[in-house]
Amino acid sequence: MTYEGRWKTVKVEVADSIAWVTLNRPEKRNAMSPTLNAEMIEVLEAVELDRDAAVLVLTGEGDAWTAGMDLKEYFREIDAGPEVLQEKIRRDACRWQWQLLRMYAKPTIAMVNGWCFGGGFSPLVACDLAIAAEEAVFGLSEINWGIPPGNLVSKAMADTVGHRQSLYYIMTGETFTGREAADMGLVNKSVPRAALREETRALAEKLIGKNPVVLRAAKNGFKRCRELTWDQNEDYLYAKLDQALHRDPEHGREKGLKQFLDEKSIKPGLQSYTR
Ligand code: COA
Repeated sequence: MTYEGRWKTVKVEVADSIAWVTLNRPEKRNAMSPTLNAEMIEVLEAVELDRDAAVLVLTGEGDAWTAGMDLKEYFREIDAGPEVLQEKIRRDACRWQWQLLRMYAKPTIAMVNGWCFGGGFSPLVACDLAIAAEEAVFGLSEINWGIPPGNLVSKAMADTVGHRQSLYYIMTGETFTGREAADMGLVNKSVPRAALREETRALAEKLIGKNPVVLRAAKNGFKRCRELTWDQNEDYLYAKLDQALHRDPEHGREKGLKQFLDEKSIKPGLQSYTR
């Protein structure tokens, strides 16, 4: 499917099973405006059902991944409008930035090419995996302009980064680099910006090689299990496993067992079964 020109603030290109979703307001450092938020809901829903897209990569045009929420259009202009409108505007932001993205039906990778501030941390952590340019600059800048972090920004930090570092950056508003983001576990790895796209592509290709039904059960099972007790998890994760077996059209488990036990053609500790 071609998406050329369909959205004003987001660009989508699907090639070789990868959907490259690019926040596309470089002149505003890809700040997330109400329009961008509404369009991203449509984008995520369209790509999820697109048979040509197996993995979604979220990135930004130009020098920014995203400079966070749009201070003019999302804050100042909404303050001036009817109070109830804020509900819809906030709901749209939450809808794509973490609700849709966090439990997305396809694997997601945040490819952080540059500036990543404030509200950008919600979609960053909602993506399953993240690779940053070493040169990218991150910051929880809310404190610098007079608010505590909103949306799910603090939760995103709490889920990925340790207590001390989270509070340090939330309270000081100091910036840190892509390399430091990798060291503290906010992203999986950092690479020089020149290598970012190829590194992301290689990771996407690795995921494309896996069984998609099992991959979804595995990633969403992991995300939910953080919030459940051990007893609940035993029940839930086995239910997830059984669901994956039931829904898997390629019968991966049987193939995997046969190829290892009978044919001795794979070592699953070292490689995937042949699909
Ligand atoms: N909301 C609205 N507009 C933003 C924006 C934001 N979050 N971030 C950048 N912009 C706009 C600027 O107002 C400017 O618009 P203009 O050309 O009409 O004046 C344009 O994008 C370029 O920004 P500029 O500051 O000149 O770019 P820069 O490359 O020198 O600096 C940043 C980049 C990201 C360091 C800087 O723009 C910045 O600090 N942005 C705010 C980040 C922030 O605090 N985000 C948290 C929001 S929750």
